Amino acid sequence: MGEDEVVIDPWGSSQSTDYSRIIDQFGLSSMESLSIPNPSRLHRRGIVFAHRELDVVLSSQKQGDPFGVLTGLMPSGQMHMGHSMVIDQVKWFQSLGGDVTIAVADLESQATRGVSLAKGRQIALEEYISHYAALGLDPEKTNVYFQSSRPVVQRLGFQLGKRTNLNEFESIYGFNGETNLAHVQAPLVQVGDILHPQTEEFGGLRPIVVPVGVDQDPHLRLTRGLASKTNWFNVNDGKSSGVVITLSIQDDNASAFGQLPNGRVDKERLKSIFAGIVSCLEHLGYSDILSNPKQGVVSVPSATSGDKSKIRVKLLEYERSLGGMGLLAPSSTYHHFAVGLTGEKMSSSKPKTTLFLRDELPVVEKKIKRAFSGGQATIEEHRRLGGNPDIDVAYQYMMYFFEDDDAFLAEMNSNYRAGKLLAGEMKQLCIDRATTWLKDMHEMRDQTAHLVEEFLALDAR
Ligand code: TRP
Repeated sequence: MGEDEVVIDPWGSSQSTDYSRIIDQFGLSSMESLSIPNPSRLHRRGIVFAHRELDVVLSSQKQGDPFGVLTGLMPSGQMHMGHSMVIDQVKWFQSLGGDVTIAVADLESQATRGVSLAKGRQIALEEYISHYAALGLDPEKTNVYFQSSRPVVQRLGFQLGKRTNLNEFESIYGFNGETNLAHVQAPLVQVGDILHPQTEEFGGLRPIVVPVGVDQDPHLRLTRGLASKTNWFNVNDGKSSGVVITLSIQDDNASAFGQLPNGRVDKERLKSIFAGIVSCLEHLGYSDILSNPKQGVVSVPSATSGDKSKIRVKLLEYERSLGGMGLLAPSSTYHHFAVGLTGEKMSSSKPKTTLFLRDELPVVEKKIKRAFSGGQATIEEHRRLGGNPDIDVAYQYMMYFFEDDDAFLAEMNSNYRAGKLLAGEMKQLCIDRATTWLKDMHEMRDQTAHLVEEFLALDAR
């Protein structure tokens, strides 16, 4: 790893905010090329700043085809405002028609933070799900489950573990010989979390999007890689144009593909596999399909790079009919982290850095009054030089959490820079909005308490 590379550690306490470098280094796509339907506050403000293959999900949405959204919560500590950003995004996907699955990472919390399963359950319900209800997630369209009580999640993690090794974990997560094996197991369970909604039992093949902070990207890279490695058919761009499909022959599909144990090939079997590929492509409306079983290639000259994902999905269906897992690599989106109140990283274990959803209003007021400010040292200097909203926590919290009105924010931003608005005044604006927001939310929490049970999947009750 080069010296100037950003290291992302999902369990670490450091946090890089060099987002353009993160985009480059990890091969994320920026949001610019996408057209986002009915963009939320987080989209409009550039807080959701990157994605992997979100276009696959958006095109399902556009066509009225099913898609899902999955997230997970770590049942430890208290829910804070940073956590609520993920729920904002889940709600947004839900409003676009996505079904919602939420993993309670009770196995991970037990293994990496020493929280018992019973305690994890209690924290998940009282601290997280009750707030999700208050924040307006729809219990009818949300399924919460526990890692510990959904066997398919653990089974998938175990099964896919076969397709990776310690070297890959070392390069993705920076592990070494000292690494506790709980940190090897937890990501594999998370792979199971992310992929299992595609199984027939949990909704079947459809695009799944996982909205996360960049700290979770290592898990997505791992999951996407593992899902792709199981695929029976490769779908690639042709040399000069078109799309080319080849077989990915593996131990578990060799016989289905007509590869006989004696090294010979069952030609009839192979032919029928190719006929199946052609029929998938015909269903998609292509008429210029060139099938060459001898060379092991099917090409579609008129298909474009943008057609690959629908071809892939069709072939995954076919793979399933032949006995394969048929797993589609998950899509993901990435948001900027809100800064901690003190200017350092927001963290549950440091109450001074964050607002908790259970904080009493006087506490909230006090915390914001003490927050890191982008103002100048004296009023005179502030009037003369202006403040910096980019590092001003009060401004940032309005932008991330409490203020819906873009025009108002823009005005405060320029007034602050011009020195017309003082740091104390900015804090008061934030306190007013935070107080209203939290008061409403606390009321909602009481009113929606009876819904918590309804969020739980049958295997979680
Ligand atoms: N590892 C996540 C965390 O630390 C929790 C989690 C478990 C998760 N499974 C997930 C997040 C699946 C997103 C998707 O918070």
